Amino acid sequence: MAIIIDDVNRLFTLHTQNTTYQFKADSFGFLLHLYYGKRIDNQNMDYLIIPVDRGFSGNPNDAGDDRTYSLDTFPLEYPTEGTGDFRPPALAVTNPDGSRIADLRYHTYTVVDGKYSLPGLPALYDDTGEAAETLVVTLRDAVSGLEVELMYGVFSKTDIITRAVRVHNAGTGNITLRRVMSASLDIQYGQWDIIHFHGRHNMERQFERGSVTHGITAVGSRRGTSSHQHNPFIILCGNDATEYSGSCYGVNLVYSGGFLAQVEQDQNNLVRMNMGMSDDGLNWQLPPGDSFVSPEAVISFSSNGLSQLSHNYHTVYRNNLCRGKYKLCRRPIIINNWEATYFDFDSDMLTQIATDAAELGVEMLVMDDGWFGKRDSDTSSLGDWTVNLDKIPGGLAPLVEQINALGMKFGIWVEPEMVSEDSDLYRAHPDWVLAVPGRAPVRSRCQLVLDLSRAEVCDYLFDAMAAVLDSANIEYVKWDMNRSISDWYSHLLPAERQGELMHRYVLGLYHLLERITQRYPDVLFEGCSGGGGRFDPGMLFYHPLIWCSDNTDAIERLKIQYGTSFAYPVSSVSSHVSAVPNHQTGRTTPLLARSIVAMSGNYGFELDTTMLSAAEKNEIRGQIKLYKQYQHILHNGLYYRLSSPFEQPYTAWMMVLADQSAALLNIVVSSQSANASPLHLQLKGLDPDASYQLGEEDGTYTGAALMSAGFAIQAPTEEHYACQILLQRHVE
Ligand code: GLA
Repeated sequence: MAIIIDDVNRLFTLHTQNTTYQFKADSFGFLLHLYYGKRIDNQNMDYLIIPVDRGFSGNPNDAGDDRTYSLDTFPLEYPTEGTGDFRPPALAVTNPDGSRIADLRYHTYTVVDGKYSLPGLPALYDDTGEAAETLVVTLRDAVSGLEVELMYGVFSKTDIITRAVRVHNAGTGNITLRRVMSASLDIQYGQWDIIHFHGRHNMERQFERGSVTHGITAVGSRRGTSSHQHNPFIILCGNDATEYSGSCYGVNLVYSGGFLAQVEQDQNNLVRMNMGMSDDGLNWQLPPGDSFVSPEAVISFSSNGLSQLSHNYHTVYRNNLCRGKYKLCRRPIIINNWEATYFDFDSDMLTQIATDAAELGVEMLVMDDGWFGKRDSDTSSLGDWTVNLDKIPGGLAPLVEQINALGMKFGIWVEPEMVSEDSDLYRAHPDWVLAVPGRAPVRSRCQLVLDLSRAEVCDYLFDAMAAVLDSANIEYVKWDMNRSISDWYSHLLPAERQGELMHRYVLGLYHLLERITQRYPDVLFEGCSGGGGRFDPGMLFYHPLIWCSDNTDAIERLKIQYGTSFAYPVSSVSSHVSAVPNHQTGRTTPLLARSIVAMSGNYGFELDTTMLSAAEKNEIRGQIKLYKQYQHILHNGLYYRLSSPFEQPYTAWMMVLADQSAALLNIVVSSQSANASPLHLQLKGLDPDASYQLGEEDGTYTGAALMSAGFAIQAPTEEHYACQILLQRHVE
């Protein structure tokens, strides 16, 4: 049993293989958080709560004269506004009388086998024999009638606990929700660092680590998407934690809209972490009888440092989040024509690129932006999902047949959520966009955003996408979204419900994606938002891979893919070899470096094959062969970060198969210098007692030597040196 309830002490304990999570309902019915960390059996940890009169920390009326009992100082399981706790709340409401308080007391609980699901929202599922369990604890506010269900999903094998919240109005008046965090975690003791992943277009998920200090540290997005600027994933780790030692907590939100992650160290040094959808402008009306469900947060704890934490997320996301035919199997190696042609292509050019690519071993052509309406630049035609017959004579079917005849599959780019003002769709339905009446909306990349909170807009998009997908043998869809959302106003919602729009947009999007992915279960969907602007677990539920960044420069990708690897598995990363000089940075890197970086993802190409020299083609042929040989290690192996591109002039990482029979070591040098020392790496994850052969080398090394003494290579003297070494367990 992963969930243990002590009814006498009203004590709730959740065990995973290596962790324990505990909270209790105290004598007043408040839920106090007791512990989350390394597994502890058979212990009530309420001795950790030491009541002290801290001064200016109020006491609930029930506590009588006891000045030591204060919600302002205790670790709380789901803190609310208005109850004498002055730290950031997880829940904020306005009651029918205008008061802003939710005084939640314990009511009841249920435990069920399996994992809860969330209506209309992506969430981890359990159909893999993991034997997940669910705990639901119900709290009530006796005055307003507000009911809150705290949901916990326990995935024991992967040390993952999910959390979500259902808020129900069982009262008689309208309640307004102003904040509903998915998870809140109070940690009473310790010195903590926060790691988060910031960035910008073309430079997503940059690793940043700093101390948690008094006051609030917050990251989030108010852009309507999870965003390039911050990822909905943060880590709290001991200030002495490393990749391979120390305590680390991860919190990742399964949501693709705006989010908020807050960390505060309070007056008593307790650290509170809140994670949930953005409350920016949130004003959700909850009439009597209605419920609201928050997105899910996925939390995990590792006592063995950051790599173990990443393994927990990678494993659960591959098995219990991603879905569809391509969930665990190798995806086709693609060539995408974006950087080869941009908008300037026709069927003949695509066929030529595909012909060359097929000869190299590439398996699919993805036709990017520019094939529809009169789209010759980014100023027009979004919304008009009909083929441009000047570029693609005869329509999609003949082109796809031609590509299929080369032995290649065919994929297509779409950007359904957007509309150009210069489009038939916009001319017919100007009220379908997000725009405030009487004000001209903000344009971004010359485009406006369709109001996906409206059912008829989603129906139109479903029909338009279905018409495209039914018109030819299309086996891959790149689903793009190329702007941040502003002008939050829906022409359909009454004034008092406009504060629901940001979330309604995301719900509409999820509903549309669910319909499309269910209707086309054999199509592989790639998510994209100007590269990695919506790289989050919510999207991974529909799209098992996401275009990691529009930046295809191998050296910059080292940092982007390093940051991405903290939460997201290699199999979720879409990564291509592009031409040099690189279109984003102007940098020239050897093909080998580009190829090794792209292989740590879903391998593909984004260049004009007709421009490749015979020597380059030869090299690419060899690299494609290697990828096919290594793919099971690259995607199924446990991922170990051996060095950081933010600290070292090189980046090294490796993947090791679960049975430790084989591993792949990858090294790419970002900048070399004269007379440098050899590169020394301590390998990870090997069987210490086994002997490994490295590449084609004669002789073997023990796993113990490679991990403890390490492995060294000559300091490179060539620019952007890269190497990939296969390690195979030696069998006598
Ligand atoms: C976005 C994507 C690119 C490409 C262009 C097309 O920027 O990230 O890969 O598809 O749109 O307009």
